[in-house]
Amino acid sequence: MRLTSALAAAAAGVAGAVVAGSGYLASRPEVRTAFREDLETVRRRDPAATNDLVTVLGAPGLHAVWAHRGLHRLWQRPGGRVPARLLSQAVRTLTGVEIHPGARIGRRFFIDHAHGVVIGETTEIGDDVMLYHQVTLGGTSQEPGKRHPTIGNDVLIGAGAKVIGPVHVGDGSSIGANAVVVKDVPADSIAVGVPATVKHPVERPHGGQWELTDPAIWI
Ligand SMILES: CC(C)(COP(=O)(O)OP(=O)(O)OC[C@H]1O[C@@H](n2cnc3c(N)ncnc32)[C@H](O)[C@@H]1OP(=O)(O)O)[C@@H](O)C(=O)NCCC(=O)NCCS
Repeated sequence: MRLTSALAAAAAGVAGAVVAGSGYLASRPEVRTAFREDLETVRRRDPAATNDLVTVLGAPGLHAVWAHRGLHRLWQRPGGRVPARLLSQAVRTLTGVEIHPGARIGRRFFIDHAHGVVIGETTEIGDDVMLYHQVTLGGTSQEPGKRHPTIGNDVLIGAGAKVIGPVHVGDGSSIGANAVVVKDVPADSIAVGVPATVKHPVERPHGGQWELTDPAIWI
């Protein structure tokens, strides 16, 4: 009986959230556009993502990014910093992704596998950036002020990579899995190793846009 009531309450909660969510989307065209863009990004980059409903319900990287957009707005409001910070910790618990609400993130940001990603307060991320799990965009200084990386547009950062300090990763670059980046990376380069060194310019197919595939085909 208790289980039935709990399931009914959960179903009512989910239904309420869906109704509230659709109402919110209907009233905010820019949110609706970003939502569509995010789903299109996942569909384009992940051949396994054939069902938008499954993506909406089952992609923790997307959930973390959606939560961050709201929390970043809250962070910028007077008195919003403490609740934004506390809520971002709740999002970390639910998704395994810790994004400081002060971080500035561009459009069509995609975190695949999601777990273990940490993005610090003064990080800036351009458009069309993709991260895999266990990436850290972190600081090296205890001093306040800009202390986290700036990531350009069209950047790919492989699983386990750490980009630390106020370094700049140029547009179109690619950071190898498990690299530790402590110096600027020029545009259109591949940086690999510990500490990361630049191998050679990236050959970018598909007219300059990364064609990202589901990593499930590699593992
Ligand atoms: C960095 C990366 C994007 C480069 O891919 P690419 O453009 O196809 O380049 P290549 O594979 O030709 O590698 C270029 C050079 O970097 C080296 N390299 C590539 N990735 C490396 C890595 N993670 N660590 C060390 N060296 C690496 C290659 O050995 C090669 O060296 P060489 O020029 O001396 O032969 C890719 O290797 C990578 O790490 N992608 C992330 C994948 C990932 O995280 N997957 C998670 C799946 S769950």
